[in-house]
Amino acid sequence: MDKITVVGAGNVGATAAQRVAEKELAREVVMIDIAEGVPQGKGLDQFQSAPVEGFDSRVIGTNGYDEAAGSGIFIVTAGIARKPGMSRDDLLQTNARIVREVSENIARVAPDAIIIMVSNPLDVMSYVAMQAAGFPRERVLGMAGVLDTARYRAFLAMELDISVEDIQAMVLGGHGDTMVPLISYTTVSGIPITQLMDRSRLDEIVDRTRNGGAEIVKYLKTGSAYYAPSAGAVQMAEAIVKDKKRILPCAAYLQGEYGMKGLFLGVPCKLGRNGLEQIIEVELTDEERAALAKSAEAVREPMELVK
Ligand code: NAI
Ligand code: 2OP
Repeated sequence: MDKITVVGAGNVGATAAQRVAEKELAREVVMIDIAEGVPQGKGLDQFQSAPVEGFDSRVIGTNGYDEAAGSGIFIVTAGIARKPGMSRDDLLQTNARIVREVSENIARVAPDAIIIMVSNPLDVMSYVAMQAAGFPRERVLGMAGVLDTARYRAFLAMELDISVEDIQAMVLGGHGDTMVPLISYTTVSGIPITQLMDRSRLDEIVDRTRNGGAEIVKYLKTGSAYYAPSAGAVQMAEAIVKDKKRILPCAAYLQGEYGMKGLFLGVPCKLGRNGLEQIIEVELTDEERAALAKSAEAVREPMELVK
């Protein structure tokens, strides 16, 4: 790909830009932020790591959108992050205003781009971006499920003392306390997780996953997680750039899938060069189906506030 742009050169954005460059997913990586000098300084610093790390993607920092013209993908991380005691929904109105402005600019300079939304509250911001950019649902995806699933897999690997690579899992639903880790689809190299761990311990891990973002905020005090979130966004970008047809849990705009429509929710998605290429509908237990419906309700409520 010629160009990938990251909007917001803060913790998630700058780390994502560095990861994109190190993986050489695009010849040019553009980083945009409203803070004067910050994207320029970070971009230059990142490109100065290129000779050591051995990548040839050029990283360019800017305060405007001209340099981003024609980008194939925009990873949007602009906004404010959670502080201790703040819920993701506290960020709602401020970030909606920012994401609206950013998305209009994206549509202006790169009308064919694919947006990977990261700003919170994630599911609602994905909706705001789709509305403001006027893009079809295939080209607006939210990153949360990859992160929530990564946290779940990491906790399981720590518990079982096994490789993270051998844990297959999927966390669906909204990016919040109502997210839905699918125990029935959690396996270790094909072995159902329930054969390796008792249910009460598994429930504790599911609970820790649901609160995984808050756990990091509590430690950091001045912001929220960014290493794993940036890795999640870049995994989605890589699936698109390389047309890998990966099946990843992403926030997608539902049009009847899982019996729901008119909202973004985390579901299994096939990602390829066209962005969202398919939503996979898997069978759910009654408990999982009810949890997904509850999660959808938690997304709809703040969505009404930004319509
Ligand atoms: P941060 O505060 O480090 O960076 C945000 C950056 O956005 C700042 O540099 C700020 O100057 C910039 N910004 C603000 N308004 C802008 C505008 N109009 N145009 C361009 N840039 C603008 O925050 P961090 O940690 O990077 O988080 C970014 C967002 O991502 C937050 O909303 C956070 O809640 C969310 N997040 C979402 C996750 C997910 O799983 N979806 C995971 C982690 C963070
Ligand atoms: C997280 O889950 C704050 O949404 C962010 O870490």
